[in-house]
Amino acid sequence: MNKQTQINQEPTMEIRRRSFFTRQRLSAQGKIAAWCYVVATLAAVAGATALALIGSFSSDLTTFAVLVFITTLFVVSGVRWLQAGATLLGVVLFYLFFTQPYVISSLYEPKTDPQGGFGHFVGVVILFGIITLAFVANLSMVLQNFQLSSRRRWFAPTSSVIIGMVIGTLVIGALGPGASAPALAAIAPLETPQMAAGPGVPTSINMGMAHAPISVGQLHAPATAAHVDHFTLTAQSAHLALGSGITVPAWTFNGTAPGPTLHVRQGDELVVTLVNHLSFGVTIHWHGVRVPNDADGVAGVTQDAVKPGQSYIYRFIVPDAGTYWYHSHQFSYDETTNGLYGMLIVDPTTPTLHADVDESVALHAWNGANNQAIYTMNAGDGVLKQAALPGQWVRLRIVNTAETPSGNPQLVTLVGAPFQVVALDGHDLHAPQWLTATPLPIGSAQRYDIYFQMPTHGSVALVTADDGQGYVQAPALVVGQGSGPAKLPVITKWFDLTTYGTPAHDAVTPQSHFNATYNITLGNQMGTSLGRTGMTYTMNGKVFPNTGMIMVKEGQLIKLHFVNQTSLYHPMHLHGHVFTILGENGRPLTGSPVHQDTVLVPPHATYDVAFVANNPGIWMLHCHNFLHSNWGMDMMVMYNVSTPYTVGSASGNFPD
Ligand code: C2O
Ligand code: CU
Repeated sequence: MNKQTQINQEPTMEIRRRSFFTRQRLSAQGKIAAWCYVVATLAAVAGATALALIGSFSSDLTTFAVLVFITTLFVVSGVRWLQAGATLLGVVLFYLFFTQPYVISSLYEPKTDPQGGFGHFVGVVILFGIITLAFVANLSMVLQNFQLSSRRRWFAPTSSVIIGMVIGTLVIGALGPGASAPALAAIAPLETPQMAAGPGVPTSINMGMAHAPISVGQLHAPATAAHVDHFTLTAQSAHLALGSGITVPAWTFNGTAPGPTLHVRQGDELVVTLVNHLSFGVTIHWHGVRVPNDADGVAGVTQDAVKPGQSYIYRFIVPDAGTYWYHSHQFSYDETTNGLYGMLIVDPTTPTLHADVDESVALHAWNGANNQAIYTMNAGDGVLKQAALPGQWVRLRIVNTAETPSGNPQLVTLVGAPFQVVALDGHDLHAPQWLTATPLPIGSAQRYDIYFQMPTHGSVALVTADDGQGYVQAPALVVGQGSGPAKLPVITKWFDLTTYGTPAHDAVTPQSHFNATYNITLGNQMGTSLGRTGMTYTMNGKVFPNTGMIMVKEGQLIKLHFVNQTSLYHPMHLHGHVFTILGENGRPLTGSPVHQDTVLVPPHATYDVAFVANNPGIWMLHCHNFLHSNWGMDMMVMYNVSTPYTVGSASGNFPD
């Protein structure tokens, strides 16, 4: 009797042991799942630790490691509903895996992925194999458990799946695109820049004068200089971790953006070897430097774009001290906005200003997920630090390398110390006044050199307002000890270069005799440009290459009268020369003389500038908002020079 009861009770115990919340021994599939998850956990933890040790902490990989660890615990717990939940976490793991830019790039370019090439690819594939195996084993274990249940056979699996789905949805929601961790949103890989094809696309345009006595190739640097600086810049792709967890795909010089800062001395000769490891043509333009024409780096005008695998040597003397930069001038819209730029700092032969700390800051905007602009200072989108001691003098050289997506200039200002603007576009201002948190409007390609003394305590911060909406906490540069500013200033009246500084003698003034004056009307309208239809940006109603040219002769003093008929800012840049600013809206400057290579013409304003034609060649005059120059706003200043190069689909050269 007693024995009979025991026998009868046996199946009941078995069922209870396998019920919803109780634990059970792992089946064979369960063991496979558990071991695979353990291996994946160890791999992810090892990877995350290694990255943290080399200083490039990855929040993505850490999240992955934590999640795969939780999944492992769920499986080994033996609790059936947790095991079912683990399958849903497995789905989240796949999601994280395949939305990770490093993984995507590695699968995309197995051999050439800049994050570690083929080794990285193999690692990605192995990790993928392990989590797939774990997931399949996990799923089959759950299904097997489902079949073994003999009581309430629908309840446990169904509720497990629902709970798992809720957890999974919450996790995806918390981590997914548009939520708190934009790092996990997929940023589209870069597309190779190329010209539109078909009607309206020029095949071969020669920008030179057909029977000119001299060709661009003859306009080169003198044979010798007292001191020669050699540099090599290699154009290559990279993925840039911006610091906050966002990684952007980029084309770079030497693997970083900005590329290496070239620091040289006035009068030095630069010999720069450009090596192209990208799959399309590139050049280097030395923005603001009065280079000989053959070193100007304009594809289709002063050279052919440097082809993949090839190299090219730029040789020029830097005649002026100051803050300059360099960028590709083949498809400059695509190539510069995606990272092919860097800074060039030229120290004066006789220093005029003492600085204990001299740093350059490149402001950039990257194309993030969902076309959201990601603003950076140098290589980071967070708070950068710059050491400086109390009482030290600091010079910051700020360049806007961005395309300025909104079309408005970026605003920058300094919080925590009064400052002077000592130079614009590298050219010193005369007796500048002290400013306090004055917003400095900086158009694409422009430079401001600011100068200040560190206070006795606390830090000083350089902050920006993108699109003029208001200053932001990041990106920012904190100089000295401490964190960013506790309180951001409000935007006050913008800096006005036409009234700043103190008057001084200048070689060119509005009273000078001009050999010629050209009116250039800046417009925008729907139209076609190079075979594309859309919003075009015009000079005198025309789009490049129909904009005509400004013919000059060596020694002439030329005045340009810009009339901006649009509601947009246009940073107008002339290659190879320096403008003297004559006035805005017909009013001459009341402060320091101002010399710039890029003048920011405000909406519905006029601007008068002049330049001495002292550098023979074929020189671009264009808006430096890359979108505008890409859609028409370019012309040439021409000295009766010919060129063997052409722009168009035949050569593949397209400067903007
Ligand atoms: Cu900064 Cu035509 O260039
Ligand atoms: Cu423009």
